[in-house]
Amino acid sequence: MTIKTPLCETLGIEYPIILGGMMGISDANLTSAVSNGGGLGTLSSATFGVDGTREQLQLLSEQTNRPYSVNLPLFHPMVPNLLDLLPEFGVRIVTTSAGNPAKYTEQLKSMGIYVMHVVSSVKTALKAFDAGVDAIIAEGSDSGGKVAKDEVPIISLLPAVTERVDVPVIAAGGFATGRGLLGALAMGAQGIQMGTRFLAADESRAHENWKQVLVNAGDSATAIALKNSSPTRLIKNQFFAEMDALDEPGKGPMDYMSVQKKGNESIPDDVDGSRGNYIAGTGSGLITNIKPAGDIVREILQEAEQSMAQLQSYL
Ligand SMILES: Cc1cc2nc3c(=O)[nH]c(=O)nc-3n(C[C@H](O)[C@H](O)[C@H](O)COP(=O)(O)O)c2cc1C
Repeated sequence: MTIKTPLCETLGIEYPIILGGMMGISDANLTSAVSNGGGLGTLSSATFGVDGTREQLQLLSEQTNRPYSVNLPLFHPMVPNLLDLLPEFGVRIVTTSAGNPAKYTEQLKSMGIYVMHVVSSVKTALKAFDAGVDAIIAEGSDSGGKVAKDEVPIISLLPAVTERVDVPVIAAGGFATGRGLLGALAMGAQGIQMGTRFLAADESRAHENWKQVLVNAGDSATAIALKNSSPTRLIKNQFFAEMDALDEPGKGPMDYMSVQKKGNESIPDDVDGSRGNYIAGTGSGLITNIKPAGDIVREILQEAEQSMAQLQSYL
């Protein structure tokens, strides 16, 4: 018996596991590895710009014939140009984030595209639902990278969202195991989206030192920096402390670009993991190995199925 949700049928995937679009990371290689492994890969258009995204879509068309999604950062001025690219490559699924879902949802749907939108609260979920999105990705403050100022953890956000909207909900933030997947399904989700776990995949562009930091991370390794201006979940280290000391209300993400760049440039020489900018979610404490993305997908499914059998024995 395999775990399959209605969303799997809708998206044409085997398993309800999605690779999150990750700036700087989710390229054609990782996206196709997750899709070929039976999940849904997501290409990060923000990483590549318009011409680079065209190249990545071309690569994807050579690397997989399975479904995949493209992440569109809604605030970005290049979005109209990206929209022109989608039919050229027959893109069927788009994940929108970081902006108003009312802006492009109708246009995307009129192109026959299935639209999933990332939210971080019940309020933003209702806004996305009203905008007519096909599915909602509820992302808790457990997630790696940018998190909402409200900081709602997934355990509270997910059931609140699934009760209020009448479209499939995907859970994101802190997931890295089969038991986590099962928990999300129990709370009403039809799948999970993971970023951090896939950072530590063989096919991920993350530097080996970053992957090693994730493998070595314990359950309390991450925290939210820049809480007053641009909340971001990272591994706690010297870099975290230096950047967090610059936190000031009124500042925005652009104000931290140069310090983040310095943190990124430190990674290749940072053998003890103290000086690099390591974006990571709370699930990093659950990562014990680096392996192919397809194996990650299948192992999570197997673990979820075993846990399901165990739960049934409680009935
Ligand atoms: C390194 C990194 C970069 C990310 N960049 C983006 C992004 O550009 N757009 C976006 O919508 N989400 C982004 N995310 C969020 C992921 O798509 C995903 O929802 C999140 O990682 C799930 O939480 P997890 O990291 O605990 O698995 C990023 C996450 C990480 C870890």
